Amino acid sequence: MMRSYQYFAPGRINLIGEHLDYNGGIVLPAALTLGIRLTLTPRNDNTITLRSASHTETVQVNVADEWSYDTAYQWCNYPLGVLALMKQEGFDIPACDLYYTSDLPEGAGLSSSAAIEVVTAFALLHYTGNHFDRVWLANFCCEVENNYIGVQCGIMDQYTVALGKKDHALQIDCRNLKHAYVPAGLQDYQWLVMNTNKPRSLVRSEYNIRRQECERALKALQYINSSISTLCDASVHMLPLLPDEVIRRRARHVINEQKRVKDAIESLQKNDINSLGRLLNESHASLRDDYEVTGFELDTLVNAAQSSEGCAGARMTGAGFGGCAIALVHRDACTELIKRVGEEYKRKTGLTATFYQTGIGDGVHAIFA
Ligand code: GLA
Repeated sequence: MMRSYQYFAPGRINLIGEHLDYNGGIVLPAALTLGIRLTLTPRNDNTITLRSASHTETVQVNVADEWSYDTAYQWCNYPLGVLALMKQEGFDIPACDLYYTSDLPEGAGLSSSAAIEVVTAFALLHYTGNHFDRVWLANFCCEVENNYIGVQCGIMDQYTVALGKKDHALQIDCRNLKHAYVPAGLQDYQWLVMNTNKPRSLVRSEYNIRRQECERALKALQYINSSISTLCDASVHMLPLLPDEVIRRRARHVINEQKRVKDAIESLQKNDINSLGRLLNESHASLRDDYEVTGFELDTLVNAAQSSEGCAGARMTGAGFGGCAIALVHRDACTELIKRVGEEYKRKTGLTATFYQTGIGDGVHAIFA
């Protein structure tokens, strides 16, 4: 019987700083205690098998094979993308069985795709004795997502899954890929993750449209002021210079959200829950009105939370168009809030929300049995 090796990669929430990573901004996500666990069992042949406890799809490849993204596959495309890029970069791929189990909801905006990419790459590199830097690992997995899966996401998700730290928010400067940890002990408050359970059908197309709109805003502003290198460098005083009303609102979200991230870091450092909550509410309003990535279900869920006893603030998290929201809730009020928000959401949307009282956990790691 071969010895097995176990690894874990978390999902993530973004506390604040939405749609800023691809605009060269500072974001403030945190890794969750929910995540994906991978068991790697070495084999004596040249085969790699992919299996998951939550899917029937299984795939078997020979280490010498070549493969590319296949629409006939679902979840297996993610680990196959990691394996393909590792081969391309000259890493030895060991024959092994890869078996995944997860308590992270999929396709819900909590970065299950980043988690499976990062846990796969980490496990294979760790098992084969490679030394690597975690920022390099985040970039590597982001490349898999961009070039193999074909989603033009920024670096935030893979970075957080790779570098998250228990009880800390991760302040990432996406311009230079440097980070700092901000203690996120919240006294009597906790983060509550709320899943709309609305399938995120628009996310791919609309996400790319938002990126293009931001690029257009940046180009127009650079034409006027050549010292601006990212949209996050611009100031609200420049907005009237943008001729297109939609582009102006997109840029306004980015500029104001960047200021809110800096204020939120200060609030966390001072343990000022009220001001942190206010910033969350403002962030959601900006994503709803200026960036237009929320939608009826997210707005309904967030409004219900915001108007509940014991909630300091709430906002959508991740790309938007469905998926999850987060709320900063007093521990004593959590049970009642879940009941009230769940009922109101069901009444107004016909959907059943799921709630996760998860903590802030560590980034990807080996589990030593
Ligand atoms: C998705 C992307 C991230 C980021 C967020 C929005 O999660 O994968 O790179 O752009 O949306 O903040």
